[in-house]
Amino acid sequence: MKLPARILLGLALTLLAAQAIRPMSNRGAATGPNHLSAKAAVPAEVEQILRRSCYDCHSNATIYPWYANVQPLGWLLEWHVRDGKKHLNFSEFATYAPKRADHALEEIAEAVRERHMPLASYLWVHSAARLSDEDVKTLADWASNTRRALGAAGSTPTK
Ligand code: HEC
Repeated sequence: MKLPARILLGLALTLLAAQAIRPMSNRGAATGPNHLSAKAAVPAEVEQILRRSCYDCHSNATIYPWYANVQPLGWLLEWHVRDGKKHLNFSEFATYAPKRADHALEEIAEAVRERHMPLASYLWVHSAARLSDEDVKTLADWASNTRRALGAAGSTPTK
């Protein structure tokens, strides 16, 4: 076999073998004892937006799409979930120290207002997760009000 053919075959076999490795490890419960709602009031409309547009990457429960079975797409997805959860996990929010919770709420308002979140690559395939202007306002207002409420409850806001 010529070298290019061997390389191609090698790549094809690697890609085939890669299909066997499916991480998809984020299959816990979105809500639980440490969920955001244990620390802050979460109106139903806010919960709905978070569930629809944020929980796949910022909770313990990802709803995996079919292409999570296709590598390397599934790995890329898993990486987003891990990275997203590291920054912010609504399922564990109640365990955050006051300063971290305050900062997270500040960033939530910022991230949705600037349309940095949800990630653009996610919206290509999850168009239903796109936030309307009203959703942005609902989330950002809730985040700011919650910051104030938690701050007034005795924590020390960073800014
Ligand atoms: C497809 C996965 C995904 C979705 C869906 C998603 N995020 Fe993220 N999020 C990430 C990743 C990855 C990071 C860390 C890297 C970065 O900041 O870009 C992050 C970071 C953040 C941060 C940290 C600060 C910042 O601005 O970077 C906040 C706050 C945040 N996301 C809020 C949200 C909110 C609110 C939603 C829903 C409206 C959402 N995210 C939807 C993946 C996601």
